[in-house]
Parts: sequence; structure tokens; C-alpha cells
Amino acid sequence: MRAILWVVAAAGALAAGYGFAQSGADVLKAKGCMGCHDTDKKKVGPAFKDVAAKYKGNKGAAGALVAKLKDGKGHAKIAASDAELKAAVGAVLSTK
Ligand code: HEC
Repeated sequence: MRAILWVVAAAGALAAGYGFAQSGADVLKAKGCMGCHDTDKKKVGPAFKDVAAKYKGNKGAAGALVAKLKDGKGHAKIAASDAELKAAVGAVLSTK
């Protein structure tokens, strides 16, 4: 049982190391978002908690925010894949 758990953990670590199955939180760190944002404090940009509150219940928010980051319109342009941006924005919008 223990060996199986170890294998699962090692595979997870490898996947993270090679950039597969990155969680939104990983992307936020890897892409430097946290240099300008914090979860619950305003830094250069607004706290992610406040962003989540602002867009609560807004179904189009995720797509609009991904586009904003991707094209650099009204936000610093972020060099990341669509999948990474979607994961990052998903994590931002679920910040509590
Ligand atoms: C160079 C600093 C900087 C970096 C790096 C940065 N941001 Fe921002 N961000 C800002 C500023 C300033 C604002 C406020 C202006 C605005 O609303 O666009 C902002 C606003 C936002 C908003 C709210 C936009 C809105 O329309 O309400 C989101 C979501 C966001 N950032 C996500 C991210 C994500 C995700 C990353 C990393 C991929 C990131 N930011 C990286 C500075 C930054």
C-alpha cells in the first residue's frame, strides 16, 4: 500500500515538473502573477479575492479575463498558453 502511494506521489511530482497537469495555483506562481497580485491584499494589481467577488455570478468573466491577459488589453500582456491562462483565471475566480 505504501509503495503504491509513493509511486502515485512520484508520478504527480514528475508531471508537475514537466508542466503537465499544472493547477491554476501553480500557473499563478510560475507566470509571475503573484509578483503583482496577492490572494487577499492589493499589491500592484487588485487582490484575487476582490476580483473573484467582483465577477461572482458573471458567467462570461472567465473568457473575458483570459482574452484580456492574452492580448494585453487593459492588463500587462502575459506570455502563457490558453490552457495556462484558463487554469490561472479559474484559480483567481475561485479565490475566497
Ligand atoms: C506587472 C504587474 C502584473 C502582473 C505580472 C499581473 N498582473 Fe493582473 N493586474 C495588474 C494590475 C495593475 C491590474 C489592475 C488593472 C486591471 O484591472 O487590468 C490587474 C488586474 C487583474 C485582474 C482583474 C482584471 C479585471 O478586469 O477586473 C485579473 C483577473 C488579473 N489581473 C489576473 C492576472 C493573472 C492571472 C496574472 C498572471 C498570469 C497577472 N494578473 C499578472 C498587474 C499585473
